[in-house]
Amino acid sequence: MTDGDLEKAAGLVRRARRVLVITGAGVSAESGIPTFRDAQQGLWANFDPQQLASPEGFARDPALVWQWYADRLATIEQTEPNAGHRALAALEQRVPDFLLLTQNVDGLHQRAGSRNVHEIHGSIRRVRCAETGRVYAEGEVPIVPPFPVRTPEGRLARPDVVWFGELIHMPAHRAVEDFLRAAMPDLLLLVGTTALFPYIQQWAWQAASHGSAVIEINPEPSVLAEICDVVLEMRAGKALPELVSEPV
Ligand code: OAD
Repeated sequence: MTDGDLEKAAGLVRRARRVLVITGAGVSAESGIPTFRDAQQGLWANFDPQQLASPEGFARDPALVWQWYADRLATIEQTEPNAGHRALAALEQRVPDFLLLTQNVDGLHQRAGSRNVHEIHGSIRRVRCAETGRVYAEGEVPIVPPFPVRTPEGRLARPDVVWFGELIHMPAHRAVEDFLRAAMPDLLLLVGTTALFPYIQQWAWQAASHGSAVIEINPEPSVLAEICDVVLEMRAGKALPELVSEPV
């Protein structure tokens, strides 16, 4: 990566009118939230996230899974959006067309002021009935012991997040599909994701192959680096404010 890359990326951002942003856990790393695969620290080090964040894991021990989510939520509640989240919210105010698709469940983009946010893996802040599928508004069902959490009707509740082996949050998927079908973005920003999921790779390829400029921001470039116009091997909290700041 060279200084020219940052300048080239800033020019692409400055000229963009229609922007699609796809974020992953890396955008929240500087807020103190471990990336998904690093999240297994401390007392949860001996648990495989794919065991806890799974229908089988929940069926086996719903109380344990709720304790894990409550601990993650407690970590999130103690964090603040970082400069990267805030820069994306500022960018949204500056362009006529903007959609932010996040794989994160932490709600930090919304807390930073982003509005057109779609959470394809759901939200750790929302609870849904494990029996009826009814989704409760944030805060309507307190996530507090004794676990497992139950709905006001006394039914077993679960976090409204996508677990391994489950269908992604289809309204979020449809929002991106509709956005791309209406018109391709001038610019696709890929921020802090290993981009391992096929739908992420397909959207990036679709935009790149239809002429969108693609910028990746990640200290460790993802599999999508080869289709990017610019790869900034930088932390999101440093790169995004530099890209989005008004030219002096
Ligand atoms: P990962 O944990 O797979 O990847 C985090 C990415 O963030 C890596 O590419 C890091 O290099 C990068 N990163 C770390 N610190 C960063 C920083 N300060 N600035 C920018 N990038 C940074 O997280 P995701 O790609 O989000 O799915 O993983 C996607 C999905 O895989 C998660 O949503 C989860 C997991 O399975 C479900 O829970 C369904």
